[in-house]
Amino acid sequence: MTELLGCKYPIIQGAYGHFGTSAIAAPVSEAGGCGIITAGALKTPEGLRADIRRAREMTDKPFAVNITMITRVMELAPQFLDVVIEERVPVLFTAAYRAEHLGKRAKEAGLKWIHKVATIKHALAAERQGADAVVLVGLEGAGFKSAVQVPTLIGITTLAKQIKVPLIAAGGIGDARGFLGALGMGAEGIYLGTRFMATKECPITDRAKQLMVNGDPMDPKFRDRALAPPRPEALARIQAQRDSIPTGEWLASLEKAMVSGSGGDVEMGSDAGELVGAGHPSLAVGVIDSVPTCKELIDGIVAEAEELLRRSGPLARILASN
Ligand SMILES: Cc1cc2nc3c(=O)[nH]c(=O)nc-3n(C[C@H](O)[C@H](O)[C@H](O)COP(=O)(O)O)c2cc1C
Repeated sequence: MTELLGCKYPIIQGAYGHFGTSAIAAPVSEAGGCGIITAGALKTPEGLRADIRRAREMTDKPFAVNITMITRVMELAPQFLDVVIEERVPVLFTAAYRAEHLGKRAKEAGLKWIHKVATIKHALAAERQGADAVVLVGLEGAGFKSAVQVPTLIGITTLAKQIKVPLIAAGGIGDARGFLGALGMGAEGIYLGTRFMATKECPITDRAKQLMVNGDPMDPKFRDRALAPPRPEALARIQAQRDSIPTGEWLASLEKAMVSGSGGDVEMGSDAGELVGAGHPSLAVGVIDSVPTCKELIDGIVAEAEELLRRSGPLARILASN
């Protein structure tokens, strides 16, 4: 994974539709992880180009760009990709709907292509379409939800036995235990959305970061939002409208049904309202207890992971002696 991404640690920062700029991507890459600039956060191809150049002034380490295939971004996707190729960004991440046409072009231009999905079926499809690696987001995670999504533990463990390209685990991961757990399940890297939002550099409000520090995964405003995939009946209703309403309108209603929490009829309190303004943090709030710099976070995860592995030494000796 580190060879594929050109970074020191297999720790990847998630894409964020509204604020995923160089402000967060560059410090993550500088600290040895893989930072991602989210094309949609820059709104235009020229905005993306300027932000890629800004990131290059902040770090000489490689970073990636995410193009999310949703209505707001989709029609600009080919132009965003032109910029990614022209600016020689080494890795393209895509997400949501099919993106094989982008992946194919990126690979022809010598880039690596990694697609992010919510289901095992779509992960295997991305592999068939030529993705160099796949991110699977478990139900605990933030972002688009699928009616057949399963929790990270079972999703990664099941998929790892079936897929040949490197697998990256996402969904509810935010500390050294989650990191080692994901590697144990068969992933070769971790992808953190919520956890990197609660860092000093992330361009969201300090109050939103503090709400994540105080956030309790048992609180319904986190629990119900995360563990609420779209209802199959709601998706079937939208599916039935496929040919009767304009495509843009149809896709927008599909996306509304898929975004995390929409299937749960969650009553939003004012705190949750503020967090929603910053995004939809996932159950990873359960492992967020501070707002470090990106470097402190990554160094902390790696150091604690090494310590945990050292402590598991006795177990290895017991297993070896039996
Ligand atoms: C505020 C916010 C905005 C997001 N926007 C996007 C996006 O535009 N594109 C995308 O691919 N994923 C997006 N995601 C999903 C994350 O990139 C990542 O897959 C997810 O947060 C992983 O789960 P975790 O939060 O438990 O780590 C977003 C997540 C959050 C919290």
